[in-house]
Amino acid sequence: MAFAGNESKAEEMKLNTRAVHTGDRKRSGSWVPVTTPIHTAVSYFYDDTADLERVFANEMPGPNYSRHGNPTNDALEELVSSLESGAGSLACSSGMAALNLAITAALLDRRRVILAATALYGATISMLMKVLEPSGIETVFVDFNDESAVAAAIAEHKPGALLLETISNPLLRVAPIDRIAAMAKEAGAQLIVDSTFATPLIIRPIELGATFVVHSLTKYLSGHGDVLGGVVVTDSANIEAVRNLAKALGPVLGPFEAYLAMRGIKTFPVRMERQCANACRVANWLATHPAVERVYFPSDPAHPDAAIVKRLFAPNLYGAIVSFEVKGKGRDEIFRLMNAFRLVIPATSLGDVQTMMSYSAMSSHRELSPKHRARLGINDNLLRLSVGIEAVEDIISDLDQALKV
Ligand SMILES: Cc1ncc(COP(=O)(O)O)c(C=O)c1O
Repeated sequence: MAFAGNESKAEEMKLNTRAVHTGDRKRSGSWVPVTTPIHTAVSYFYDDTADLERVFANEMPGPNYSRHGNPTNDALEELVSSLESGAGSLACSSGMAALNLAITAALLDRRRVILAATALYGATISMLMKVLEPSGIETVFVDFNDESAVAAAIAEHKPGALLLETISNPLLRVAPIDRIAAMAKEAGAQLIVDSTFATPLIIRPIELGATFVVHSLTKYLSGHGDVLGGVVVTDSANIEAVRNLAKALGPVLGPFEAYLAMRGIKTFPVRMERQCANACRVANWLATHPAVERVYFPSDPAHPDAAIVKRLFAPNLYGAIVSFEVKGKGRDEIFRLMNAFRLVIPATSLGDVQTMMSYSAMSSHRELSPKHRARLGINDNLLRLSVGIEAVEDIISDLDQALKV
């Protein structure tokens, strides 16, 4: 049972409502827990062992062993699938584990070539180049905002999968997912979209034709900086393959983390709306600051992908990351600026209720060579601000005093 008394209408309800209710209230005998408990048991048995056999054979629903599924994870997976308009999902121990699982599933019966966006999270580039490439999965990087380059690369390399981020880390490029999905489909390739920065409140890639959506649950969906997790959402054609791979490879999320993620997701739309509004205010303020060289934010009419944002994003929601370059500052001055914050937390991660500042050259993209970073436009004076839910005046006043140091 998904919604007490409202089962038949559950999937018609708005995303904000589903975030609060979907997955919860599974009946246990005559009583119903209002929120999903943490099921720590690794193994499950049935009154009749023939039923356990049916569960193993997928002929009857139910848990048998926690690596194969567990009621807490099942509830979280039902919730995330609903938010992302997927047929099913698999909760993983981190965003990177989820991405690896999605890539493995996408390439199961396809050419082991990935066409990947040049603008990606640093650890994703490292996974592609340093882990997958030596194991025989070739990656070709392309600018996904250059549609003719994408078409040419598909024709030349015949990739089995395409990989992009809805809002790229850290320069916030937005690719035309619907058009890329159509090209992938025509070529018989699977489109994997890392939607961590955007969340299903802003865009739902499966509705636009993507086959796999990946999230770092660590970020906006959980939102409180206290759980590391990831999730792969997919369509009905691929969910069994994802589940079977997870059984074999074991990247699954623990039930404590699944509980925390689910608890976080209940408030994610409300947090995200506030964070997006705060980020707009901060981006506009930074754009007029004399110490700031350049601001990257998708609401900017001069953003290179402004037309795509207008076409694909939910109205007035542009994400809550603001990246900016500080005039004439090198690494030492950037460190001094970060040390000067009184409210903003100079730590790695994003999407939490707290405002956090990250220095991409030191954290998210540190594994890339300085040359590679420069090629991507990630300069040594670039900062990435994850705007939280605090009073926006306090965030701005802290940025202002630190920018004067
Ligand atoms: C866009 C993006 N994808 C994936 C990840 C990886 O997530 P996790 O740290 O949960 O493995 C991150 C982490 O910052 C990210 O920014």
